[in-house]
Amino acid sequence: MTYTRREVISFGAMAVATAATARVQGWSQFTPDVELELTAQTGRAQILPGRPTDVWQFTGRVIKGPSSVLAPVEGSYLGPTIRLARGQKVRIRFANRLPDPSIVHWHGLDVPEAADGHPRFAVDGGKDYVYEFEVTNRAGTYWYHPHPHMQTGPQVYSGLAGMLIVTDAEEAALSLPSGATELLAVIQDRKFDASNQLVYSTTMMDMETGFLGNRVLVNGQAAPQWSLATRAYRIRILNGSNARLYKLAWSDGTPMTVLGTDGGLLEQPHTQQYVTLAPAQRVDLWLDLSQRALDTRIELQSAAFPLTDGGLDMSGMGGMGRMGGMGGMGGGRGAAMAGTSLPLGAPISLATLTVARREKGLSAPPARLSTFDRSWQPAPGVPVRQVPLTFRMMEWFMAGRAFGEMMEVASDETVKAGSTQIWEFVNAGGPMGMQMAHPIHIHGRQFRVLGRSGGAPGNSLREGLVDGGWTDTVLVLPNETVRLQVPFTSHAGLYLYHCHILEHEDMGMMRNFKVI
Ligand code: C2O
Ligand code: CU
Ligand code: CU
Repeated sequence: MTYTRREVISFGAMAVATAATARVQGWSQFTPDVELELTAQTGRAQILPGRPTDVWQFTGRVIKGPSSVLAPVEGSYLGPTIRLARGQKVRIRFANRLPDPSIVHWHGLDVPEAADGHPRFAVDGGKDYVYEFEVTNRAGTYWYHPHPHMQTGPQVYSGLAGMLIVTDAEEAALSLPSGATELLAVIQDRKFDASNQLVYSTTMMDMETGFLGNRVLVNGQAAPQWSLATRAYRIRILNGSNARLYKLAWSDGTPMTVLGTDGGLLEQPHTQQYVTLAPAQRVDLWLDLSQRALDTRIELQSAAFPLTDGGLDMSGMGGMGRMGGMGGMGGGRGAAMAGTSLPLGAPISLATLTVARREKGLSAPPARLSTFDRSWQPAPGVPVRQVPLTFRMMEWFMAGRAFGEMMEVASDETVKAGSTQIWEFVNAGGPMGMQMAHPIHIHGRQFRVLGRSGGAPGNSLREGLVDGGWTDTVLVLPNETVRLQVPFTSHAGLYLYHCHILEHEDMGMMRNFKVI
């Protein structure tokens, strides 16, 4: 897992050549419907009262296509929301104007290898990278973020992320709330110093547990207030945090009505008390305010849950833990999760909704949202691929391996283009209870959860899981085995699967898979 900066850069240069060649060869076929420029640069944002915060951010410009393709998130460091339609051909010119190498990944989209943002394609500051792909995904809430080698965590944390919304005809026919009645919420936790600057640390403890902030922002703002009307809203929520899990709920006990997950709409709306949203996951909610009195206030909250339901509780080990020598100052390794001012599982108020005016509108969502093809059956005799998630020697592993060489791929990580396999992630942990929930993400297509087994009986995060739809990131709880139906992309090439706790990813809890 030692990759020198020089090697990363030379890969970047090679990638530009590859992309350019691909573009010239495909010139006659590829006439983009939409062409964008997306620039990553340093900037400044007013997040807390007082001094502005230095951030890294995406800004965008439409070169070709309707101006509605890009919608800036007002008053935020977040990148513009990109709105695309299924079937569109898209060209995006990424301009890296950061001091470090970077590359953009379109999380959840099924795109050709050269457009997937693999770290080997990272380009230096001052360089560009051209993406070309056709939008083949279902309508849904996707997102984009950097994916450079061992730097995804700090770059996303610095502010580089944005939503990417895909629409299609099936969804449009439902006439779901849109415009002013469609709300977007990107949830991210951050830690600030006394002069309002972002603090990020990569101590061994932070890398092992994942970095947690002490303030939770929504759309880059602390405790936003939304002034709404007496009608129904569609609320698209992205957990854009590096490591924090949320157990979403409405403060007045109204159940959450789930319309969709990572890969788009469910077959029908699903009502449940909580929604457990792991890093990188999205949820699409319906909230009906038509029966509310004026001035009603409802908070979007993250409900409390025990630290051990999702994280490592090392508090009992104090300075006597394996890392006792390094953890002394902060009171032991557990400090990262149990000892901060906002430990994992602490209750959080995310945003406040106020019913401010009367308006007529929809109240109930459509009974039927979409139809899934459930015909797939595993071919007889095809083995289930088991991927144990383990911890040893202070590192997390997938199937006993970590991300090493940029192109390295094992034989059980080689799959046929367009084929479907069963992959089973087994949260096996390691010695001394070194086990935590891992949000596992597979690039390319959306997959489905076929089943879960094991897991601690009373894990309160389980009641918030939404397993009924298509997804690209699945939370594997401690001790659990999660069985997935994974349809692989039909594009040949090298793609990634990894834990989306960004510190785990950067640390090497990531592997290539090769589509042939
Ligand atoms: Cu959202 Cu490989 O990442
Ligand atoms: Cu991804
Ligand atoms: Cu992990």
